[in-house]
Amino acid sequence: MSDDPVKVMKTLRLRDDAAGQAEAARLLREGKLVAFATETVYGLGGDATSPGAVASIYAAKGRPSFNPLIAHVATLEAARREGLFDAAAARLAEALWPGPLTLVVPVAPTITVCELARAGLATVALRIPAHETARALLAAVGRPVAGPSANRSGQVSPVEAGHVLADLDGRIDAVLDGGRTPVGVESTIVACLGGAPKLLRSGGIERGRIEEIVGPLASADEEKTLAPGMLASHYAPDAVVRLNALALEEGEAGLDFGARFGGRVLDLSPRGDTVEAAANLYSFLRRLDAARPRRIAVAPIPMHGLGEAINDRLARAAAPRGSGAARV
Ligand code: TXA
Ligand code: MG
Repeated sequence: MSDDPVKVMKTLRLRDDAAGQAEAARLLREGKLVAFATETVYGLGGDATSPGAVASIYAAKGRPSFNPLIAHVATLEAARREGLFDAAAARLAEALWPGPLTLVVPVAPTITVCELARAGLATVALRIPAHETARALLAAVGRPVAGPSANRSGQVSPVEAGHVLADLDGRIDAVLDGGRTPVGVESTIVACLGGAPKLLRSGGIERGRIEEIVGPLASADEEKTLAPGMLASHYAPDAVVRLNALALEEGEAGLDFGARFGGRVLDLSPRGDTVEAAANLYSFLRRLDAARPRRIAVAPIPMHGLGEAINDRLARAAAPRGSGAARV
């Protein structure tokens, strides 16, 4: 776009080896933007302590600046410098980090994550990713790295370096190519702010696993404005999406589950496994969308396992687009 205010630059594609990681860490320490693989989806990394770097993340994504970012750290010690962990947060961190879990906690007096990354909130979202490349990178940077999903705001999250470039080539400094991300949906977000922990976003760790550790999670309905990733239309392909389809209609591309449709469709998991389906979700949505179908019909997906997160993302992909803020 000629009126695009974001400077067009050359985006480096860095190999996932010692030299590539060192270069990525150097760029991040200089305040540059580097997309990197985590076990969930690719993150658009920038120094979370630098308001300048964080501002360029918002600009590159075209994200509304009221939307706070997750700060990624390499160790529990680093996380405790940023946030205050109550008993529930400490138990969850102990049991599930490194992993696809983000904890929203009150800021610590020693916090280094800048206010802009938190969108001015008195809380901070923290995560230690399980992906080896991500943790090596974070250790080398030695500061929290802000990392929203590395897509244009409102679009489908990237699970391969090529998806990152399709959205952000020329808008970021580099992508560290860590291959295909294994989980495929974003982290589960839990707020631990005193009282029962609240589920803010379903994701790569299923609710049941978290409830085994801290008991029943409080509902987060009233929290929606605090987790703007929960905006109704989000994670959306270009095509219209029809949910719970039992058969394909004329002109539709099919996103199947458990071999229901038959014929020329993409099946998230022919054997009906929600973990496999989560891993395939975003790349299959991109592939179907690329064929410019009239509509994408999606087979019913059960709520167990990672089904809660998959159904959440599909409901947002199918939501009316209109003037929704998530589409900017
Ligand atoms: O798996 C993931 O979580 C990926 C990878 C890259 O780590 N990241 C990701 O980030 O999905 P993002 O920015 O697309 O989503 C972060 C969500 C947003 O919905 C945001 O509103 C919410 O976290 N969030 C961040 N800080 C928050 C806070 N202090 N309170 C409530 N929600 C917060
Ligand atoms: Mg996102």
